[in-house]
Parts: sequence; structure tokens; C-alpha cells
Amino acid sequence: MKPIVFAMPGNETLAQSLAAHLSAEFGASEIRQFPDGESYVRLDTPVANRAVILACTLDGPDDKFLPLSFMAATARELGAAGVGLVCPYLAYMRQDRRFRPGEAITSVYFSRLLGGAFDWLVTVDPHLHRHHSLAAIVPIPTVAVHAAPLLASWVRANVRRPILIGPDSESEQWVADVAVGVGAPYVVLEKTRKGDRDVEITIPDLGANSDRIPVLVDDIISTGRTMIAAIRRLAERGYRSPVCLGVHAILAGDAYSALRDAGAASIVTCNSISHPSNAIDITGIIAAAALDLLKSPGGVA
Ligand code: R5P
Repeated sequence: MKPIVFAMPGNETLAQSLAAHLSAEFGASEIRQFPDGESYVRLDTPVANRAVILACTLDGPDDKFLPLSFMAATARELGAAGVGLVCPYLAYMRQDRRFRPGEAITSVYFSRLLGGAFDWLVTVDPHLHRHHSLAAIVPIPTVAVHAAPLLASWVRANVRRPILIGPDSESEQWVADVAVGVGAPYVVLEKTRKGDRDVEITIPDLGANSDRIPVLVDDIISTGRTMIAAIRRLAERGYRSPVCLGVHAILAGDAYSALRDAGAASIVTCNSISHPSNAIDITGIIAAAALDLLKSPGGVA
């Protein structure tokens, strides 16, 4: 029997595209809020003995997770053969240690919630820094697909003589991969975060590469303050305006306009979170990973 892909609200394009890639059925459902703010969830497509996939990117996770887990629980109770989650952006991964006494390590707690609700998970470039793999924290089969080859193709097609720049040490895993794919040099800057919107960056001399076009590469652009600080340091040194390339376009609040005002030559992201800056389609690599999980021996579906 064909798998069924259900879309959580706002994820219809992703779910339709996944269904097409997986030769699956696009499931009908209703998810809405009662007037009191509680969630109403109904699956209209019968799920008994069928693999179910829920499509839901998890920016703004607090509002999304409760109806998402109700969907998964409903599918299970109605006899689904397995319930997987395709979430192009996986939230909460940045809080990966107790930075101050008493803080919640939400990456671990959120991972446990995912493990309790789903049988498997596919995501794109989760922010794994102190956790070395998703498997270390999420207690179900997971696949983290990497957007670096797609970012590299975009740079190759759109930027002549680039230098790839990672704004902080955490970004090195992404910028190094993209640089290899592009066949261009890269540097990693030093960042000190003093607050949510207060970031200091120091930049080395680019030497022989100073006439190249800087391409800032990061996994997440959230407040944009990391990239804005990097843009300012580049400008102070007289380097060219950078292209800002990110996997996940959180771009909270004024981040998008502030980045443009700061002097970004362009802002380009993947469609893991829907945003006007999306120019790189990650649906194909996600679908391929979901297909592998569905077919895996031992059967998650
Ligand atoms: C964190 O370490 C990430 O890799 C990004 O550098 C960070 O999330 C960017 O955040 P913001 O845009 O708020 O500076």
C-alpha cells in the first residue's frame, strides 16, 4: 500500500512535493484551533496498516509541536504501520549545554519528545555542535541530510571567484564542505555572542584573497546579527559586499531588512523554512532520505 503524507498547516507545498517524490498519497486532514486555543485534529484519509509521514518544518516549534504530536498519536491509534516525521528545520538544537546554572538543555528534552511521538525522523543540517550526531540524542532512526552540495552548486552557478567565510567556529563544518564543493578557499571568523542580538566578530586579513567575493555561510540565520557583524567587519576592511548564504531562514523580526540595510549583496537560503530569500530547493534530498528509511530492512514502515 502507498504511504500517506500529511501536511501540517503551512507545509502543504513540502508535503505535496514529498508525496510526488515518494509515489505516496497526499492525505486529507483537518487541523485547527478551537476558540479556546486548543487544537482540533482529524485524519480523513484512512491510515490503518499504511506508512504515515507527517511534513512539518519546526521553526516556531512551540505552537507547532502539540498539534503535530496529536497527529502522530491519532495515526498510531488508528493503526498506521509507522509514523515518520519529515522536518526540514529541526528546532531547539542550539541549546546543547547548560550555559548558565539552572538552564534547560532543551535540545535533549525536545529530542526525547520527538522520540516518543515518531518512529523515524528526517531533517536537514540540524545544528549539531556539542552533540556529535542526532542519534546521540534522538532515540529513533534519524537521517540528517546535508545541504552543502546544493549550496556549493548555487555558489558555483552564481558567484565568480568567491571566498567562503564561516562567521564562527561552529559554522566550520558547513563552510568547509561548501568550499570543497565550490573549489574555493575558506576562512572562519571568531565570534563572541554577548546576547541574543549582541554579537562581536573579528576577521583576519584575507591577504591574496581580498579581491574575491565574500560568501558568508551559516546553518541558521536567526536574528541576522551574526551575519550583520561579519558584513560590518568586511566593510571596515574595504572588502566587497558579501553574499549571505544560509541553510535555514529563520530571519526573525527585522532580520531580513536589517541584513539588507547592513549591506548584504544578496541573501540566499534553502526552502527548509519558507521565506522570500529561498533559492535552493532541498525537497529532493529530503525525499530521497525518507524513501531510504521507508525501505530500510527492519522496516520503519
Ligand atoms: C549558531 O551558532 C548558528 O550557527 C548561527 O551562527 C546562529 O544561529 C546565527 O544566529 P543569529 O542570526 O541570531 O546571529
